[in-house]
Amino acid sequence: MTNDPKHILVAVAWPYASSEIHVGNITGSYLPADIFARYHRLKGNHVLMVSGSDAHGTPITVKSDAEGISPEEVYQRYHAGFLDLFQKLGLHYDLFTSTHTENHTKVAQSIFLALKENGYLYTETQSHWYSESEGRFLPDRYVEGTCYLCGYDQARGDQCDNCGNLLEANLLIEPRSKNDGSTPVLKETEHFYLDLSKLEPGIIEFLEAREERIRPNVLRQSLGQIKANPLRGRAITRDLDWGIPVPVEGWKGKCLYVWFEAVIGYLSAAIEWAQLNGDKDAWHNWWYNPDAQAYYFIGKDNIPFHAVMWPAQLAGAGEWFGKIFEEKENTQLTLPYDVPANEFLNMQDQKLSGSRGWAVWGLDFLSRYQPDALRFYLTINMPETKDANWDWDDFVTRNNSQLVATWGNLANRVLSFAHKHWEGHIPTPGELTAEDQALVDRVERGFETVGDLLDKVRLRAALLAVMELASEVNKYLDEAAPWSAVKTDKQRAATIVYTALQAIDHLKTLFAPFLPFSSEQLHTYLGYRQPLFGEQFTQPVTDAQGEHITLHYKPADASGRWQPVKLEAGKPFLQPHPLYQKLDPKVAEEERARLG
Ligand code: MF3
Ligand code: ZN
Repeated sequence: MTNDPKHILVAVAWPYASSEIHVGNITGSYLPADIFARYHRLKGNHVLMVSGSDAHGTPITVKSDAEGISPEEVYQRYHAGFLDLFQKLGLHYDLFTSTHTENHTKVAQSIFLALKENGYLYTETQSHWYSESEGRFLPDRYVEGTCYLCGYDQARGDQCDNCGNLLEANLLIEPRSKNDGSTPVLKETEHFYLDLSKLEPGIIEFLEAREERIRPNVLRQSLGQIKANPLRGRAITRDLDWGIPVPVEGWKGKCLYVWFEAVIGYLSAAIEWAQLNGDKDAWHNWWYNPDAQAYYFIGKDNIPFHAVMWPAQLAGAGEWFGKIFEEKENTQLTLPYDVPANEFLNMQDQKLSGSRGWAVWGLDFLSRYQPDALRFYLTINMPETKDANWDWDDFVTRNNSQLVATWGNLANRVLSFAHKHWEGHIPTPGELTAEDQALVDRVERGFETVGDLLDKVRLRAALLAVMELASEVNKYLDEAAPWSAVKTDKQRAATIVYTALQAIDHLKTLFAPFLPFSSEQLHTYLGYRQPLFGEQFTQPVTDAQGEHITLHYKPADASGRWQPVKLEAGKPFLQPHPLYQKLDPKVAEEERARLG
């Protein structure tokens, strides 16, 4: 823990501002990112956690067509809902912005121009699917057909969900428009292409250098795919008017492809954050620093764009980005350090589907239950290595038997007992016995063992390990029985209760990345005045694109808390209240009835 603080970029998937966020999205990327960021903040590292609304692209235009409102209105409405949810769920973004900003336009265009300058772009006239019934080119996502690589008959133009490959839309077999089912025709149009075959050796080297760290599911969909099917040039512009204009004379009416542009958001959000903080070069610490570590938290459907395309864009832009963007010689932009993509969450043993309503929505859930209850269930059940399943009975059981019984009751009964018998002061211990010391040592070692798991982004295992430590404290109390000792030997009881309180105080910190609301509450009960974490607030920002509301995190002063802190004997503390709500098993049935 004496190591120098590191610069950790926590890059979180950008939700499309065209649908509400459900528990599958939350456990796929937003929640693991927040847990990881909070852990590193407690450790004293310099964390920058950024994301924003993915405001461009077809999901937004389709919604705007369907509802007869402008794409801006669609983006504004969903963006506002995201900010509300993230605050209620305690997702502490240093900045949550959007791709619809002047800053992002400039950054995305600079990356494009840097790639062009370095010779990684070329133009080509190719045929794309054109809908005669709608009189426009169809976005790749809105053409479905049979995958020419694996034969899956519901592949989308941009990607096949069966084999995971990025596809070339015009090679789809038996195409049909997702909008009206009609058969599109191929029509010629000119576009810019990213020369991925030229960039391929660099990408392979980049992936091989990270083979030990990157999860097998991510490697399979990146290195594995490239080795099987060498990369080919990919169009990075589109015939669209909602998006970021191609910054080249004579290219009016064409925009940067939304995927090419959205991933650049990780960089532009860091730049915007620095500007808003009044230290406009501060982003260099993460982006021009070879020792910085950038983690990308995404769902598995985003893997090729983050493990192949984005590194290719960054490597290909090279030092030209700095020259174009800020007229500075600069080093290479930081490449991803890890891409911890999660698998999917099923819903009651069926594929979760937002559009069919077979989902649990974040804001709706939080109107009835506590945020830490959701964070707990989604983490103990996180789809890190394989798909997981949301089951309402299981949710209630785990809430009541683990969160409430093992941890919440432990904290509550020890604090209440101590408050009553030692008049609101932490009891002063006598000499600790071997058993007392063994318990404290064991919990203290958690800072290392749990920390190691968190470093490796094994969040589920990390939370389980903390729960096991909580069970140890319960066992210790059953044996030491301070409730009887207090009647016969109050000094011995004081030692036992102090030991348990010390363990609980450590557990509070170990649980804090996962369960920030209740850990903060418990921290207050234990008599601390400085919060564990900082605060979050929204801020309106006006630029040439109009006003947009951003979400910021202001860190608390105290960092480096991820270590044993000795609990002060004799200090006053507060009368506690239960940290969690016990649930009636009946709610599982009610909730199942809401699905679909
Ligand atoms: N909006 C897309 C999705 O939700 C992409 C997210 S990550 C990005 O799947 F960086 F590419 F924006
Ligand atoms: Zn396929």
